Amino acid sequence: MESYNLLKGKRGIIFGALDENSIAWKVALRAKNEGAKFVLSNSPLALRKKDIFDLAKQTDAQVIAADITEISELEDLFEESMQLLGGKIDFILHSVGMSPNVRKNIPYTDLDYDYLNKTLDVSAISLHKVLAVAKKLDAISESGSVVTLSYIAAQRTFSSYSDMAHAKSVLESIVRQFGYHYGVAKKVRINSISQSPTKTTAGTGVSGFNAFFNYADSMSPLGNADADSCANTCMFLFSDLSKMITMQNIYNDGGFSSMGISNKLINQYIDCGCGDEE
Ligand SMILES: NC(=O)c1ccc[n+]([C@@H]2O[C@H](COP(=O)([O-])OP(=O)(O)OC[C@H]3O[C@@H](n4cnc5c(N)ncnc54)[C@H](O)[C@@H]3O)[C@@H](O)[C@H]2O)c1
Repeated sequence: MESYNLLKGKRGIIFGALDENSIAWKVALRAKNEGAKFVLSNSPLALRKKDIFDLAKQTDAQVIAADITEISELEDLFEESMQLLGGKIDFILHSVGMSPNVRKNIPYTDLDYDYLNKTLDVSAISLHKVLAVAKKLDAISESGSVVTLSYIAAQRTFSSYSDMAHAKSVLESIVRQFGYHYGVAKKVRINSISQSPTKTTAGTGVSGFNAFFNYADSMSPLGNADADSCANTCMFLFSDLSKMITMQNIYNDGGFSSMGISNKLINQYIDCGCGDEE
């Protein structure tokens, strides 16, 4: 992959690389390629899987465990990261999501509310916690960039996405609200990327994922955006090229979000005899 040195000399924290399919994994490889140095962080549970240490080797990164919902662990993470990297943080990737309701296949109309709280805490409020801790410690450089990962279920109904849809709506709202406050205070930029369905552990945990994936691919003029293309969009958002972009939800989705129906889908209906005139 060609390097444009977009992140030369920049320091980062990347949350959420679980295995080589993770979006955060691809972002870490790409960020290394663009000249960044960074810390990789994930929950103590995820570190037991050990894959992240291979990524750390490939990217000359340190791994620091932190449950992203625990303020004290985030404080330690920021302090240690600034020490290891030699200064304030220029970019953060928040690529974290989890719903016990989805994992346990609990029907949406019968949600377990303790699980719902967990979904919201891990998948959305954690972004607020990361930003609040960073702001309190003054840990992000002026014009630094924070990117989180969202999904179009924040705006529209995807029948099996369940309470993750609520988490994504809250997440995008935090992007706008905190984007205002951190922008005024330190010119820190906060954006979300609304990503196509992508074959990862979190993605494939949603029931009917393959149908989601194929439907979106047939609908989108460019086809589904993969994790590598998401990583490219992250490079732009982390770089100085996007210094005036903040509080946005950017669709990295091959055009899906602007579509109603495509010829590919129409033809699939015709081929199966489902689109016959009465
Ligand atoms: N895969 C998709 O189809 C898709 C589409 C749009 C958006 N997203 C979003 O992208 C982000 C990354 O997911 P992914 O698809 O790469 O899957 P993934 O399963 O590889 O990543 C999810 C990460 O969240 C981490 N995590 C969960 N609980 C945590 C906690 N308490 N503390 C710290 N980390 C924790 C996991 O360990 C894992 O690394 C998520 O926000 C997801 O909702 C994914």
